[in-house]
Amino acid sequence: MKITSLLTVSVVLLSLNACSKDYSPSEKDTGESMYQTACANCHKKDEKGLIFTFTKENANTAYIKKRIAEGSMKMPKFPNINAQQAEELGAYLLENSAINN
Ligand code: HEC
Repeated sequence: MKITSLLTVSVVLLSLNACSKDYSPSEKDTGESMYQTACANCHKKDEKGLIFTFTKENANTAYIKKRIAEGSMKMPKFPNINAQQAEELGAYLLENSAINN
């Protein structure tokens, strides 16, 4: 009985984890479609259609690519988004975000 519930818990945890790890964009994906599929759940657009407010230092694709590749305590990482796709996704986010001066 205990083993069964332990197994159930592990399976649930594994499938939760799989959500972001398994997200693999296809060649047809655009910055926008990747955002909608993988990021919009947590990063919704505000009433002005803006996603983030970046500081000047962080308003570049290098910073965003690092976040996608490494994640953080609260954000999963996305190892299957390749460098070129992350560049496109980053450009889309920058076009749809505010920059704090
Ligand atoms: C499960 C929720 C979740 C998902 C999915 C998620 N993020 Fe995040 N993300 C967060 C949280 C929470 C933070 C802020 C706290 C932190 O830094 O850990 C964050 C922070 C960021 C930041 C830093 C913003 C800033 O102001 O400097 C960027 C960039 C970012 N996410 C990009 C993305 C991208 C791109 C995707 C999709 C590929 C994505 N996130 C998917 C939860 C998520």
